[in-house]
Amino acid sequence: MKDVIIALDFSTKKETLDFLDRFKDEKPFVKIGMELFYAQGAEMVRELAKRGHKIFLDLKTHDIPNTVRKTMSVLRDLDIYMTNLHAAGGTDMMKAALEGLSAEGKRRPLLIAVTQLTSTNQQLMERDLLIKLPIEEVVLHYAARAAEAGLDGVVCSPLEARGVHDRCGSGFLTVTPGVRFADGDKGDQQRVTTPAKARELGSDFIVMGRPITLAPDPVAAYRRAVEEFLGE
Ligand code: C5P
Repeated sequence: MKDVIIALDFSTKKETLDFLDRFKDEKPFVKIGMELFYAQGAEMVRELAKRGHKIFLDLKTHDIPNTVRKTMSVLRDLDIYMTNLHAAGGTDMMKAALEGLSAEGKRRPLLIAVTQLTSTNQQLMERDLLIKLPIEEVVLHYAARAAEAGLDGVVCSPLEARGVHDRCGSGFLTVTPGVRFADGDKGDQQRVTTPAKARELGSDFIVMGRPITLAPDPVAAYRRAVEEFLGE
């Protein structure tokens, strides 16, 4: 089940397909985020699914329960493996999302929750959201609410993975961005860990964008990530 997910943070179909065409011997698990989805739409998702990629559709949905239910029932028909929403939308919204994603006779895509964005810090939370509790506690509370609502896991920092598993159970998935090679550039990610460290901390899936997409040899960088994370 554990895997490396490549974040396809591109906005054109050409860039995306040129990048994926470099992979001859493997079909990486890929993440389509807002940039690519809003630029290229559902057609891009269908095309990558047809090419045999597992897809994490990272749209971070957040709206009233009825709208989210209907949105998820549209995404359900796209052949995706995993998608997500903001836990801040509340338990009713999370349950509605699960209903929308479920269809008889079809595997339900995994549904995971964003707790607090990794760009959020204590100061921002207190100033803009009026949440005064320690951020670690808020992340674990949102994770627990997501687990109670029946979701499959959360997006979090690898550094939070252990706490999430302790609180919500080892089967509750942790999907973790903020991963960098030991000799790599951090970019705008604040708290980073290596693929090997993420494995040690219990991450189920690591999401890596720029360390692979901007590498001189993306296939070699992907293989290195898999080797370090899965120990293969
Ligand atoms: O290039 P990089 O490895 O930083 O890409 C990380 C990917 O994970 C990006 O697509 C980013 O939007 C996403 N992500 C993140 N932090 C979150 C949620 C998603 O970095 N909390």
